[in-house]
Amino acid sequence: MRAGYLAENLRGAVFLRAVPVMSAETDPQIADAAAVLAAGGLVAMPTETVYGLAADARNDHAVARIFAVKGRPSFNPLIAHVADVEAAARLAHFSPLAERLAAAFWPGPLTLVLPRRAESGLSLLVSAGLDSVALRAPAHPIARALLSAFGGPIAAPSANPSGGVSPTLAAHVRESLGDKIDRILDGGPAAIGLESTIVKVDGPRLILLRPGGLPTEMIAEAVGAPVERPSISSGIEAPGMLESHYAPHAALRINIETPHPDEAYLAFGPAPTNHAHTFNLSPTRDLQEAAANLFAALRAADAAVAHFGLAGVAAAPLPQRGLGEAINDRLRRAAAPR
Ligand code: TXA
Ligand code: MG
Repeated sequence: MRAGYLAENLRGAVFLRAVPVMSAETDPQIADAAAVLAAGGLVAMPTETVYGLAADARNDHAVARIFAVKGRPSFNPLIAHVADVEAAARLAHFSPLAERLAAAFWPGPLTLVLPRRAESGLSLLVSAGLDSVALRAPAHPIARALLSAFGGPIAAPSANPSGGVSPTLAAHVRESLGDKIDRILDGGPAAIGLESTIVKVDGPRLILLRPGGLPTEMIAEAVGAPVERPSISSGIEAPGMLESHYAPHAALRINIETPHPDEAYLAFGPAPTNHAHTFNLSPTRDLQEAAANLFAALRAADAAVAHFGLAGVAAAPLPQRGLGEAINDRLRRAAAPR
């Protein structure tokens, strides 16, 4: 499973083979970005899921700047990014179950919430007052090169203003945060396009805190154990899973087969041919393609609403299997009352 999970399962991840291994020695931009992090600065970095807003996870001032720049509520903890499971094990306690998950899916789109080590050295702001910490080893070669050049844990939420649509292109970061941060590393379009799947490992139990770029079924299959989905009312488990999130400016209606004539439409599969403002997530009903297109399509539909004075955006129904679970989660939150 370990070798090439991404390469085998995610077509978009072809770039993982195509892009040469990067390092601070071969790429001055990586060395520069690592120096900016070491000086307490903020760097937007590409990952295979979405672009992250990176800071030194051990530096209180740098981490506080992430919250300020995003307008993020201080109760919403951050993910600490690491190079590998060895680095992660210095920050949190790994149970055998957590080790199996990391071995199966790292580097990749899986975040593990684990008990934080007292001696982790992480800024307490990263965990926002919890005694756990969320850890992920990203697969994107630029993120990996930056982690290696910087040599420590990197705190990074998605690089968007809090509550907005996550960035899947460097241009998305530039538009919304460009003048507030120190560097933007351009790694091209995010191959997966949805944030990582977040699982809390609680003794023998696995609790899904956020569906994401790693299909939940694959996690359950890899460990031979069910992944529990907490009820919506137990919101305390996932402090950042606010009901309204990923929100475009326009109003969004979901599970719509037939959009109104004055709506922009996010289609999935063969689209109504006579509908003017259609953005097709995947004409062939491919959930990987739909995931990779989702956030850019939401932005484009939003822009069409503003430009043409439309009533809002309607989104087609998508199946709830595989990446569909995470796509539907994002659409539901984008459509939630603000
Ligand atoms: O794919 C991703 O995960 C991207 C890339 C940049 O790595 N990052 C990302 O970060 O999506 P962010 O901050 O947008 O979402 C992190 C989520 C939040 O919902 C937060 O509440 C949750 O992780 N989280 C972080 N630490 C946690 C903890 N200790 N316990 C429970 N949830 C936690
Ligand atoms: Mg986010």
